[in-house]
Amino acid sequence: MILLDGKTASQAVKESLQQRVTSLTAAGHKKPHLAAILVGTNGASETYVASKVKNCEEIGFASTLVRLDENVAESVLLAEIDALNNNDDIDGILVQLPLPKQINEQKVIEAISPAKDVDGFHPVSVGKLVQGLNTFIPATPYGVMLMLEHFNIDTKGKHAVVVGRSNIVGRPMSILLSSNTKYGNCTVTICHSHTKNLTEICRQADILVAALGRPEFVTADMVKEGAVVIDVGITRVEDATAKKGYRIKGDVAFAEVAAKAGAITPVPGGVGLMTIAGLLKNTLQAYENRAKILGD
Ligand code: GUN
Repeated sequence: MILLDGKTASQAVKESLQQRVTSLTAAGHKKPHLAAILVGTNGASETYVASKVKNCEEIGFASTLVRLDENVAESVLLAEIDALNNNDDIDGILVQLPLPKQINEQKVIEAISPAKDVDGFHPVSVGKLVQGLNTFIPATPYGVMLMLEHFNIDTKGKHAVVVGRSNIVGRPMSILLSSNTKYGNCTVTICHSHTKNLTEICRQADILVAALGRPEFVTADMVKEGAVVIDVGITRVEDATAKKGYRIKGDVAFAEVAAKAGAITPVPGGVGLMTIAGLLKNTLQAYENRAKILGD
């Protein structure tokens, strides 16, 4: 069994990005600059955004964190996005999701300039992805693809089963795995809450991607011997014996599935780290696209 370690794989991506920034700044260019907007104080969102900012600093990107109150009006958030869209120093913008209920998430996603949409959630970015055009790939499925590439997993002609159909992970994941690219060319089945015979379908997977957000949902009986298992789940489960009062659980029952799988991602230390790598790559891409536009 191969452990698909996100630490080594993300480190490799980050090192190549860091080298690129070093040569850009040595040539007198500005650093790529990511702006993150965090609304409220949701614990998981705080952790994710802090990690995104920290990783920017580590590889030499500039970052700006805009914090808004939980009760902020939608118009105020939209005005912040507008200011960042028009700020030439900012290359990439992300608004951490989920957002409080007074804010229309779709409106926010569509307010971000497609040129700075490093989350790849804007309909323009999604449309380009579907058509196989160059675009920003949502960070988590992008991270999974980078993981497959790092470990040189053979995907051509394989049956990939994606459990979950979210706009952030499942749907773009299914598009990427089915696309005509080196780490694509899979036959993809996408499963969701209305799927019948889920266990049987999962058992047919050469590559199984669990992205439904239910801790330890995928058990050994759902996995074919030797399958590649990618666990996208990151759920905080209360645990009084843990220092922080919770533990992070994936969507896969790791120990029993690892005994059967050919390769598997751990949680934590797997796809989560690759997500950050995907975001950083998108930010550099936005910078390079914009540098051309701005004639830098
Ligand atoms: N919430 C969960 N995943 C993500 C992500 O990839 N980007 C943003 N902006 N919010 C998220």
